[in-house]
Amino acid sequence: MRLNKYIASAGVCSRRKADELIENGNVKVNGATVKAMGWQVEEGDLVEVNGRMLEAADKKVYVVVNKPLGYITSMQDDKGRQTVAELVADIPQRLFPVGRLDYNTTGLLVMTNDGELTYTLTHPRHEVYKTYVARVAGVLSDARLAKLRKGVDIGGFVTSPAKVSLVKQMPRHAIVEISIREGKNRQVRKMFAAVGNKVQALHRTAIGQLRLGRLKEGHYRKLTREEIAYLKEL
Ligand code: URA
Repeated sequence: MRLNKYIASAGVCSRRKADELIENGNVKVNGATVKAMGWQVEEGDLVEVNGRMLEAADKKVYVVVNKPLGYITSMQDDKGRQTVAELVADIPQRLFPVGRLDYNTTGLLVMTNDGELTYTLTHPRHEVYKTYVARVAGVLSDARLAKLRKGVDIGGFVTSPAKVSLVKQMPRHAIVEISIREGKNRQVRKMFAAVGNKVQALHRTAIGQLRLGRLKEGHYRKLTREEIAYLKEL
């Protein structure tokens, strides 16, 4: 990230003011004064403004994002689609999504630069329940609910027991809450398809005890110390 942007994102001042500070020799990177305008801050760099040390570029940061529809969970896209990286662009550290959500899925996504936590949380052995609210077409009968709970074949893979509760049955669609432990590609959509109900909308509300809460779509919040400790313990 460019030095002026880095200083501005750290909340010190505007980008233009940061340019002035750099020009006037008030900014040091790793102890040396930097006056070059396009200077790129790398991970691990220590930036000092007027003798005050800014947050390290590799400081671990943990956020939860409410992913909107039509964003992909990667850092860039060759097809020019919007990415979740754009939702955290004002955070100086480079954050990566923990796991995936489909382009058309909304809701809770953890993003961090802590590779170790990402590895633990996305490891197949990992058994935390992820909770979704789905809107599905048609009627979700008791028999179908029972099948979903027990496990369904989603094409060569039988899902393990899931928690499923019908929130509301409307004439043409149903709202249902489902918690699963695995994370196969498009698993929830495939599970409902396997019992004959097409998913019309899918929203993740929780990972274990970590809840999205009232976070607005497209917004993020930093995780509390307790939430970070909880995720690391999982
Ligand atoms: N299951 C799905 O089908 N899609 C998601 O985005 C997450 C879980």
